[in-house]
Amino acid sequence: MNFSIKKICCIGAGYVGGPTMAVLAEKCENIQINVVDNNPERIKFWNSDDLKNLPIYEPGLESIIAKCRGKNLHFSTDVENNIKDADMIFISVNTPTKKGGIGAGQASDLTFVEAAARLIAKHGQKHTIVVEKSTLPIRTADTIKQILTSANQKYPNSATFDILSNPEFLAEGNAINDLNNPDRILIGGESEDAITSLKNIYLNWVHENKIITTNLWSSELSKLAANAFLAQRVSSINSLSALCEASGADISEVKKAIGTDSRIGNKFISPGPGFGGSCFKKDILNLVYLCNFYGLREVAEYWGKVLEINTWQKQRITEIIFQKLFGTITCKNIAIFGFSFKSNTNDTRESPAIEICHQLINEGANLKIYDPRVSIKQLEKDLGLNTKHDKELGPSNGSWKFTTDSYKAAEGTDAIVILTEWEEFKHLDWKSISTNMRSPSWVFDTRSIINFKEAKSNGINIWIMGRG
Ligand code: UDX
Ligand code: ADP
Repeated sequence: MNFSIKKICCIGAGYVGGPTMAVLAEKCENIQINVVDNNPERIKFWNSDDLKNLPIYEPGLESIIAKCRGKNLHFSTDVENNIKDADMIFISVNTPTKKGGIGAGQASDLTFVEAAARLIAKHGQKHTIVVEKSTLPIRTADTIKQILTSANQKYPNSATFDILSNPEFLAEGNAINDLNNPDRILIGGESEDAITSLKNIYLNWVHENKIITTNLWSSELSKLAANAFLAQRVSSINSLSALCEASGADISEVKKAIGTDSRIGNKFISPGPGFGGSCFKKDILNLVYLCNFYGLREVAEYWGKVLEINTWQKQRITEIIFQKLFGTITCKNIAIFGFSFKSNTNDTRESPAIEICHQLINEGANLKIYDPRVSIKQLEKDLGLNTKHDKELGPSNGSWKFTTDSYKAAEGTDAIVILTEWEEFKHLDWKSISTNMRSPSWVFDTRSIINFKEAKSNGINIWIMGRG
């Protein structure tokens, strides 16, 4: 017997839950999907008439919301009733790295997952399939299972549950495409019937040979392993970018030469300011924690190095800016182009820009920050309020300011630092920018995207990652 799924509830309306459920709703018109979140403001934005106000920016998302919202896709704060009605529940809540206590700085904080599992245990009323969607340390399904099983004893009407792991491999900025055309769908579980129920949903648009089924733990570990491998490629190319600068080699040429080897491939070998986003660092930290837990010290140290290179790359960029600007940036004006961790998203979680801006401000620079999608509110969360106005701090402390376009940001600056590869930065009018900058003027392009020749012909000094 497998269960026919008519109602889905997704707990967590974030970067994973929102786009995933939107695509599911578009592909499965006969399934009612309720996305619930205990943050009323987030739900208000998901329901706003003006689709420009959706809480997350993701290309292609607006049109799906316009098509499905109110038909078979609903956003609400009514967690309890939607759990009661659901045949299948996705857990898509946040799982940040623990800030304190055992495993602080490494293990994932499972408070939100546990809270979601307890809510399901309390309100579930029939047989329900619970699907882990959030990025989780391996064996989290065990925790969820224990909480759900204990519900059978505590609550008289309680439901029975199957647990599946169905990790998300979507990359922000390309999420809708990744969901529409996944490389693979991974489903881990113990119950064949539950696996078939979820598989049948994906079969609406994904070919059967792309659906991989495994046991629960393999599925959970595969997610961490995939992200660790990707992050490792970024750290590898970033480490070589430094060697190129020192030796006179050119990383763009090295990249081409190695990327044409079909065993290596040309994806995920672009040097940059370091990887960001909500997954890579967290997943590697989880891996390191897990390896240490099982006494695999060498393995833990190996993966730890991927993170070390990432931290070093950010520090390295700050030091280069410092040296090129004659060893002092106190009171110098610097424009920051791009603040999100990558292009096509408004997400700034773990963005290298946060650390690099902090370092520049601590050295006394006055920053003018421009990003096409990141709001001033988000900058305030990431950088704190403008330090210039804090009288406690001495004059050597710098400041930051929000600007609404790159040309305004560049006015009166000594340097521009490009941190995110937004398309518009490829087409900047360097003639106009250069006339408004202070001289000698510098551009530090950490993503190798600017029109190098045009910027140079307008008298700007240029530093490009991996080329020096
Ligand atoms: C990642 C995984 O790709 C996805 O499968 C998983 O489910 C979640 O984590 P995401 O963090 O959204 O997705 O973005 P991704 O495109 O993987 O980029 C991560 C970081 O690596 C970004 O900061 C990006 O700028 C950086 N990166 C990526 C590089 O510096 N160079 C590259 O060549 C590729
Ligand atoms: P992700 O990138 O993993 O989607 P986000 O932080 O963008 O992470 O989204 C997670 C969402 O989960 C947040 O909007 C948060 O309010 C929601 N959430 C966390 N715990 C609960 C809960 N117990 N009930 C409902 N929603 C929750």
